Amino acid sequence: MVHPPAVAAVTKAVVPAAGLGTRFLPATKATPKEMLPVVDKPAIQYVVEEAVAAGLTDVLLVTGRNKNSLENHFDRNWELEAALEAKGDDDRLARVRETVVVADMHYTRQGDPRGLGHAVLCAARHVGREPFAVLLGDDLIDARDPLLSTMLAVRERHGGSVVALMQVPSDQISLYGCAAVEDGAGGDPDAVRITDLVEKPAPDEAPSDLAVIGRYVLDPGVFDVLRETPPGRGGEIQLTDALRRMAREGSHGPVHGVVFRGRRYDTGDRLDYLKTVVRLACDREDLGPDLRAWLRGFVTSEAFEAGRE
Ligand code: UTP
Repeated sequence: MVHPPAVAAVTKAVVPAAGLGTRFLPATKATPKEMLPVVDKPAIQYVVEEAVAAGLTDVLLVTGRNKNSLENHFDRNWELEAALEAKGDDDRLARVRETVVVADMHYTRQGDPRGLGHAVLCAARHVGREPFAVLLGDDLIDARDPLLSTMLAVRERHGGSVVALMQVPSDQISLYGCAAVEDGAGGDPDAVRITDLVEKPAPDEAPSDLAVIGRYVLDPGVFDVLRETPPGRGGEIQLTDALRRMAREGSHGPVHGVVFRGRRYDTGDRLDYLKTVVRLACDREDLGPDLRAWLRGFVTSEAFEAGRE
């Protein structure tokens, strides 16, 4: 199932993919973490497909070191296509061609990885004065659970900016930005009004159990705020700091949250990455039956029990 088309007049998506990916070293020494395969597609391809499915037609990837593999992935590979064609391997040929998605792809460089806020600021010239979506390149939302299209519709109804939120257990809230919210947004069942945001709070200081996850629809006023945002936690320019100011001051319209209750996969974290690959492969028609049968045997095997000691 794909996301329903967007109703808002947002056409541009910005996908930051310039982080150092230190949690995944050494795999990410020469490869961006967004290129790590999730079953048989790199994470970034799922993200770009999600943007396209929500009706966005222009995708800007913010790249860092090792950007060539990202650009090459969305480009034609004539030699490979010719070789598969010569072999008559139509299935694999189709899979290679699927990567050239129907979006207008653009690339910009974040020279120094100075934080997510800085990565978004690198998109200012390309985006101009239009509202735009931000999709983090290592954060996957299951295509069966629509989120971005709901966020675009909320922006259409209320203006301002919209942030994706997800309930997390209290011992995990310190890993995320956390939102203070007011119930209801003029009776809108899909949205809550965000009154404040706190980056990575201690559990007893968190204003809620609602964590900010990697989807945003932003008013272009965010660029003005980011330009004035000093480096925060870790010396990085934090997008959450800019959004906190916007939520408190209401200077560029309201900031709403959409609480996501579907399936999300954080592929930048090693354990979550492994779980993602297993879950998505189990759901696949071509791989699922054999993988599930093997997993059933494996969890009752001596090798599995030995690993638990
Ligand atoms: P993360 O918070 O996961 O940071 O970035 P990271 O540096 O990539 O990874 P670790 O923590 O060292 O393992 C969230 C998203 O923001 C992008 C990343 O590529 C990722 O998609 N990002 C982060 C940038 O584009 N630039 C930055 O300066 C920081």
